[in-house]
Amino acid sequence: MESVEVEKEDSGGGNGLACPICYEPLTRIDDSPLYVGSTAGSNLQCNTCNKTYFGNKTHLDLVASSGSKQHDESMPLSTELFRTNVVSFLYERGWRQSFIFGGFPGPEREFDMAKNYLNPVLGGNIVDASCGSGLFSRLFAKSGLFSQVVALDFSENMLQQCYEFIEKEENFPKEKVTLVRADISRLPFKSSSVDAVHAGAALHCWPSPSTAVAEISRVLRPGGVFVATTCILDGPFAFVPFLRTFRQTITGIAGSHIFLSERELEDLCRTCGLVGFTCIRNRLFVMISSRKPS
Ligand SMILES: C[S@@+](CC[C@H](N)C(=O)[O-])C[C@H]1O[C@@H](n2cnc3c(N)ncnc32)[C@H](O)[C@@H]1O
Repeated sequence: MESVEVEKEDSGGGNGLACPICYEPLTRIDDSPLYVGSTAGSNLQCNTCNKTYFGNKTHLDLVASSGSKQHDESMPLSTELFRTNVVSFLYERGWRQSFIFGGFPGPEREFDMAKNYLNPVLGGNIVDASCGSGLFSRLFAKSGLFSQVVALDFSENMLQQCYEFIEKEENFPKEKVTLVRADISRLPFKSSSVDAVHAGAALHCWPSPSTAVAEISRVLRPGGVFVATTCILDGPFAFVPFLRTFRQTITGIAGSHIFLSERELEDLCRTCGLVGFTCIRNRLFVMISSRKPS
């Protein structure tokens, strides 16, 4: 059967998906759409690596190691924790709500704040990176402000939750959303193909924030926008003795990264090729935005 380049299938929800190994565009072996609920049995082929990626009922599996039979590896705890059934189930049933104690305004308000930063790229495509159970992916899709939403996470169970929440919603615009399993350090998109990347409460969970932000910078188009939320331990915490040592210990044990200042986040974005850093603070909570130079 003739292969169809995914990148050409704008109406089919192709989203410019690329091989996470070589970043070349994936081609389709079948012509089923790639929306939520129709990825089961999908085949995506990388003609350079000669590798096929598959979709299941809930998502497309686009991690580099997909299909491996013998090789197995664990990610740091801050990634593995969210792969568990129990945390994925509890996430939108109390876990996420508890973030208000650290100053997170809550998803609806965070969505409104993010929209302000995303204004220059409305109408384009957006990747909700580390989407979890899809709180924001769903809001992005329902807002109608973006042409396509890719809800992306490393956790199969989080994607399962995202799928179930979408299935429960009436009149949800499923054709706008694709659920993708991928590692933030190896994004399955062509370079300069994404208008916006949103990452709610995830920067501190990533195994290497700099590798992740560099990947985000690679996939953003010139003028593309990166918006993210995380926590900063400053203010009274700055007086905690051995804070930097404590941070190294936490990173070593859990893999999560503790940010100590806004300047650190600005530096992270700048060193990864992003410009125009701005941020909004509320106690430990911070929303940051930066963009790819035009
Ligand atoms: C605290 S949750 C945030 C979920 C959602 N964005 C929100 O705002 O509530 C962090 C998410 O990061 C994801 N994550 C952790 N490590 C990752 C990695 N290496 N690649 C992609 N996602 C990752 C986890 O699976 C989890 O869903």
